[in-house]
Amino acid sequence: FDVKTFQDQLLHWFERNLRDLPWRKDKDPYKVWVSEIMLQQTRVDTVIPYFERFVERFPTLDALAAAEEEDVLKMWEGLGYYSRARNLHTGVKEVQATYGGHVPNDPTEIIKIKGIGPYTAGAILSIAYDQPEPAVDGNVMRVLSRLLNIKEDIQKVRTRRQFEEIIREMIAAHNPSYFNQALMELGALICSPRSPSCQQCPVSSHCEAKRLEIQEELPVKGKA
Ligand code: ADE
Repeated sequence: FDVKTFQDQLLHWFERNLRDLPWRKDKDPYKVWVSEIMLQQTRVDTVIPYFERFVERFPTLDALAAAEEEDVLKMWEGLGYYSRARNLHTGVKEVQATYGGHVPNDPTEIIKIKGIGPYTAGAILSIAYDQPEPAVDGNVMRVLSRLLNIKEDIQKVRTRRQFEEIIREMIAAHNPSYFNQALMELGALICSPRSPSCQQCPVSSHCEAKRLEIQEELPVKGKA
């Protein structure tokens, strides 16, 4: 597996195909945080208008920290999974109180914040702070399972940790933000759960599942 060629092909593809999404306009860690929480259980197309309204109403971390929970939940209405909004609000108030309103850029600190798990931590650290940290979600696990023919159950914590270690070895040091987002984007646009578009995949030449024609058998997902 030639990591350098893989990185080049993936990043080149991403640069030509990246969608013009509102949270890609700047690298404000607060906005990256909001977008990643919204995107966790909700599709990109649905999130876009919610994200835009939310950051218009609460343009800064300070503004959100000062808001009433009722108003935060009102802006979340229709997105569902309201504990996401409550945890985000709690987390933002923690950052306000403990870190003077600056989202920590230290992996051991950021993970302590309410509502920030390993995925969100990695997404903020890589996208907002350009740190070579993995951000492994379901999309990324599907892509990697196929690419490397990994048959471990993706619902196990141990498997996610293995994927994180693989990403640490593959992540492009010069652009970790794009590397992680490119993997997410590949999972969303090309390497779909059913009938993946391997003909359009920039890294299909590296893909073990394609070679073995077992794309749809991966990833392995045990009983929850
Ligand atoms: N899904 C989760 N995070 C994303 C991001 N930053 N861009 C596009 N899709 C995503």
